[in-house]
Amino acid sequence: MKYYIVTYGCQMNVHESEKLASICEKMGYTLADKREDADLIVFNTCAIREGAEDRVFGNVGALKKLKKQKPSLIIAVCGCMTQKQTTANYIMNTFPFVDIVIGTFNLPNFEHYVNAVKTGRQLELLQEGDIDESVPYKRTSGDNAWVNIMQGCNNFCTYCIVPYVKGREKSRQEANILKEIREVLAEGKYKKITLLGQNVNSYGKDLVPAVPFAQLLRDICAIEGDFKLTFMTSHPKDLTDEVIDVIANEDKILKDIHLPAQSGNNRILKLMNRVYTREKYLGIINKIREKIPDARITSDFIVGFPTETEEEFQDTMSLVREVKFDSIFAFMYSPREGTVASKMEGQVPQEIKQRRVNELLALEKEIQKQEGKK
Ligand code: SAH
Ligand code: SF4
Ligand code: F3S
Repeated sequence: MKYYIVTYGCQMNVHESEKLASICEKMGYTLADKREDADLIVFNTCAIREGAEDRVFGNVGALKKLKKQKPSLIIAVCGCMTQKQTTANYIMNTFPFVDIVIGTFNLPNFEHYVNAVKTGRQLELLQEGDIDESVPYKRTSGDNAWVNIMQGCNNFCTYCIVPYVKGREKSRQEANILKEIREVLAEGKYKKITLLGQNVNSYGKDLVPAVPFAQLLRDICAIEGDFKLTFMTSHPKDLTDEVIDVIANEDKILKDIHLPAQSGNNRILKLMNRVYTREKYLGIINKIREKIPDARITSDFIVGFPTETEEEFQDTMSLVREVKFDSIFAFMYSPREGTVASKMEGQVPQEIKQRRVNELLALEKEIQKQEGKK
């Protein structure tokens, strides 16, 4: 019996799929080379933009034929997209050959749903629960080991679906994280540890006693061994001086800092509920450049947020020009049902978003070229 997992979305989802993989293997399945060979196919989905969801619909739909040829095939759809009840129902109704539809919080119980398929199709969305410490990971990322340090997000950026599908911020106990990293390093296969969280800088605020992120970084660096440490993602609102100092001072920490700015305009940043200004963002960048001269700084931007004018978009352009990021991701704003921004007036037409994203990416390319020549 073979399994095949299709993963969409962020690194946290990639890591969650490593948990799914270990559950499948515990059940006796082995990894298939391609989906046509599988007896169990799992889609671990992402809801961040409409495009991500459309790809899932397309790819799930395409399995209809396969299921006809092999009626015993089990097809499961899980993750951020199906954590939304309306989408879960839609998939159940539109794709009668899908056997299991579950959300983000059901994942540790995946085995239960596979077994229960004998009795009929499974649709269940659990409510937010504690962080699962029971299921191990089948690591699939070469000499890099992902290590989850927290789940959920409390920031409610007005465009973003993540707080709705991943629940509130919860930090793992520091002792559990350190234990996992020691065990990972003891295997001798891993040279890099990447800590994962939607907003790693707020790690540990909910623990009693609180453990600042800088402390966690120092404690991990104190673990013996030849390894590099990195993390994602940092939210500019709580990237502290202390964290910048730890990155500067610890040889084990890679000097890569992904610091999503989203916009260079203060009115838009406020509407996005990002809680920092352009000036504050630039201040952090300056501090990083001062203390970590070889820092590699990358960022994310959204263009065409509701009501964004041409002038306001040009503020994003000028920020990118000013910072000269090592690389950026630029996204066209995608309205997500249930979020505050999706209900705002002044949605920007698609062709304007498209032009702005092209312009921003062209600028980025130009900067790369100039910097490369230096
Ligand atoms: N927690 C991270 C980001 C997670 S989502 C952070 O706050 O930095 C990754 C990126 O997707 C975001 O940085 C943002 O640029 C983009 N994104 C999120 N929601 C979006 C939406 N509705 N439309 C377009 N891009 C979006
Ligand atoms: Fe989404 Fe904002 Fe949380 Fe990032 S910090 S996951 S963009 S709500
Ligand atoms: Fe997507 Fe969920 Fe990650 S919405 S970006 S897979 S947290």
